[in-house]
Amino acid sequence: MAEHFDVVVLGGGPGGYAAALYGAAAGLNIAMVEESRVGGTCLHKGCIPAKELLQTAEVLRTVREAKEFGVDVGEPTLDLATSLARKQTVVDRLTKGLESLLKGRKVTVVPGTGTVVDAAAHYVMVSDGTELTGDALILATGSATRSIPGFDFDGERILSSDHVLTMDRVPGRVAIIGGGAIGCEFASYLADVGSEVTVLEALPSILPGVDKQVADVVARSFKKRRITVETGITVTGYDAGDALTLHAHRGDETGDLEVEAIIVSVGRRPRSENLGLEGSGVGVDSRGFIEVDDHLRTAVAGVYAVGDVVATPALAHVGFAEAIVAIKTILGEDVVPIDYDRVPWGIYCHPEVAFTGLTEQAAIDRGYDVETSVHRFLGNSRAILIGETDGIVKIVAEKGTGVILGVHIAGPWATELIAEGYLAVNWEATASDLGALIHAHPTLSELFGESALALTGRSLHG
Ligand code: NAI
Repeated sequence: MAEHFDVVVLGGGPGGYAAALYGAAAGLNIAMVEESRVGGTCLHKGCIPAKELLQTAEVLRTVREAKEFGVDVGEPTLDLATSLARKQTVVDRLTKGLESLLKGRKVTVVPGTGTVVDAAAHYVMVSDGTELTGDALILATGSATRSIPGFDFDGERILSSDHVLTMDRVPGRVAIIGGGAIGCEFASYLADVGSEVTVLEALPSILPGVDKQVADVVARSFKKRRITVETGITVTGYDAGDALTLHAHRGDETGDLEVEAIIVSVGRRPRSENLGLEGSGVGVDSRGFIEVDDHLRTAVAGVYAVGDVVATPALAHVGFAEAIVAIKTILGEDVVPIDYDRVPWGIYCHPEVAFTGLTEQAAIDRGYDVETSVHRFLGNSRAILIGETDGIVKIVAEKGTGVILGVHIAGPWATELIAEGYLAVNWEATASDLGALIHAHPTLSELFGESALALTGRSLHG
């Protein structure tokens, strides 16, 4: 006999647990099925552990540069075991926090793997035999690492992002296939902790999708830090001996690279397989993403899908937002669909990257008459004070109306600074709206104010 809930959620990552927490806060009785610990990729294999390691790298950089401030502590060394232990402490602390939040809201967390037995009836079977039904069903099974042909992960020398996060030794020479968000974060981390890193990217530049000027800042900074970036590269395979010999070509030009380890970060795949969706009426596209409308509804009434398993940006905060839309829709409330163009992105390499809204090129492609304002951290007093002057703030606005279409940042604390850009883009603010606002001095955020002011035709420092 199946136990009945208002909502059954499959998956306890950011999409699933946000649906559970938000739904429970609205008074719904929720069951959430999770096969591992609650928290999903973000908490256990993604954002949190990766950012913890990147924080270790930042501390190392800070100590290395301390002498410049008159603080001489000698040449720092890294004890990776201590760093990994701290990473686990952070993950455990956040997991316990999440578990107690779920408990406090009386969400029934069902351990095990769930399968959809009858989508139309919102009927789920858990691996231990537990049967669940709901007035609604939310699929939030997330994503997993994927590789390319010929590069099967072995966890020793051919590594996925999961492996890098638990690696207990810093490899001497490493190749990273794919220069996207994960590739650039790992390149930055590994270079800081002492690896010799080569990034091999298929497209003409790293960080595709990021505004070109911002991606160029990262590429230049990587070069200064002796991270080799090879673009327009096709990797064809490798030979394994004492070292790995990686084969690649760029057009007719072929080359080999000897490394100790290869990290593959070419995107992730949605986890929609083995879920019982075949023939269920729930649409799954050719890449494995569950098909949904702008309210996250699948083709089966009462069945929703959120998070990395749908073809929207694979970001924890997008999962959160989608969960809220799904729950509000279940409750019959008015919902403003998510504008995915305006989602904030944060990439935690050094220098950090963050953006929201349209890139200059995307705005032009959509037919906007565009003007831009680009200001460098090089002239910003706080950036000089902290010794982090690499980077820019770029605002993309519509010519004439001054409406802010996009904000793109590379530089110190970009991932925090973007909050103001997000507000501006989503509030459809104009350059003169922003130019009239005061930014505290001396702050990094002044550079945003300066960039906006410059778009009004006058400026102070810029
Ligand atoms: P990605 O899609 O960001 O980048 C993959 C890169 O690999 C692209 O540049 C692509 O052109 C390249 N590529 C694909 N096939 C290749 C090949 N055969 N040879 C060479 N290059 C190849 O995917 P990534 O970095 O794996 O991250 C997956 C997702 O995880 C991201 O899309 C993002 O949603 C999320 N993520 C977000 C982060 C953040 O916001 N801080 C950090 C890490 C991941």
